[in-house]
Amino acid sequence: MCAKKVTKVQGQVPTTGHSWDGIEELDNPMPRWWVWVFYVTIIWGIGYTIAYPAWPLIHGATKGLLGYNDRVAVAAEIQTWDDKNAEIKAQLISTDLGAIKDDPTLASYAENAGAAVFRTYCAQCHGAGAAGVQSLGYPNLLDNDWLWGGTLDDILTTVTHGIRNTTDADARYSEMPKWGVDGLLEDAQIDDVTQYVLQISGQDHDAAKAAAGQQLYIDNCASCHGETGEGDRAQGAPNLVDKIWLYGSTPEAIHQSIYYSRFGVMPDWGARLSEDQIRAVAYYVHALGGGE
Ligand code: HEC
Ligand code: HEC
Repeated sequence: MCAKKVTKVQGQVPTTGHSWDGIEELDNPMPRWWVWVFYVTIIWGIGYTIAYPAWPLIHGATKGLLGYNDRVAVAAEIQTWDDKNAEIKAQLISTDLGAIKDDPTLASYAENAGAAVFRTYCAQCHGAGAAGVQSLGYPNLLDNDWLWGGTLDDILTTVTHGIRNTTDADARYSEMPKWGVDGLLEDAQIDDVTQYVLQISGQDHDAAKAAAGQQLYIDNCASCHGETGEGDRAQGAPNLVDKIWLYGSTPEAIHQSIYYSRFGVMPDWGARLSEDQIRAVAYYVHALGGGE
């Protein structure tokens, strides 16, 4: 009684006529379940192309009976979240920047929204971890060493208007003379002042050249970088003695900074982001740096 289903043996089943080195292909019918799955997928496919956007047209695609649209769905979802956050965004705009930290809910929102803005708009230049890219002049925002100032208001201004861009009349601006390119200093003088910068920043240097460079520094550089090399935030002139470099600390990098001058540009985010986004990211960056 235990009738086991016997697979048909060769010879009882017609073959497809294909033969590979004596191995023949049997023409067994396809399994029932497979055939049904196959029909179901065809029916599902036809239903899908009727119900949803499917066939490409010259402009867009067929709309489908359900009128579903991914873009509309995403927009609706974003709108839902915008509506949910509308109140806290308004609060972020109306609260004094310095007072945000006193309201835990608001502070946590600013921190998270700011981090999201940073990942989307700032990380390309300043790095995902905000450590910057030294030799390229993208400053580290974690070190609490600021070119233009590290208070919340300073950072908000920097982010809103940007630096040395041509699109915002209120952008932070300053320009170091091109000492070499414009022939303002002789090559030998540039070598001397380079050695002086190496000296004041505590690096290996040629003492004789550095001594010659000191007067050149006082005459040409101190007005921006300060008598002792401490920098000047009003002009975005970097501190030259703190071992933090925007463009690198090697003799070659310093020589290049002096010979060609640098001109770091940052976009004006006020023209690109909403006020709550800018305030959130300023709050976030301020917190990263340890805050002034
Ligand atoms: C296209 C590259 C680029 C992008 C994108 C960018 N920055 Fe910058 N950022 C710079 C450069 C270059 C500087 C330094 C300019 C200089 O030499 O003074 C700078 C400087 C800054 C400073 C001043 C640092 C200091 O020491 O005073 C802050 C703050 C800052 N960026 C924040 C941001 C934030 C926030 C964003 C995103 C909303 C952002 N940046 C996006 C290039 C960029
Ligand atoms: C008008 C103001 C001004 C004067 C004068 C000036 N600098 Fe600068 N210097 C700057 C600014 C602003 C920067 C930053 C440029 C940037 O952020 O792209 C800078 C950058 C530098 C850097 C690069 C620093 C770093 O962190 O990588 C060096 C080195 C430097 N200056 C040396 C000198 C020396 C030496 C002189 C005199 C021969 C001089 N500067 C004169 C404004 C000035």
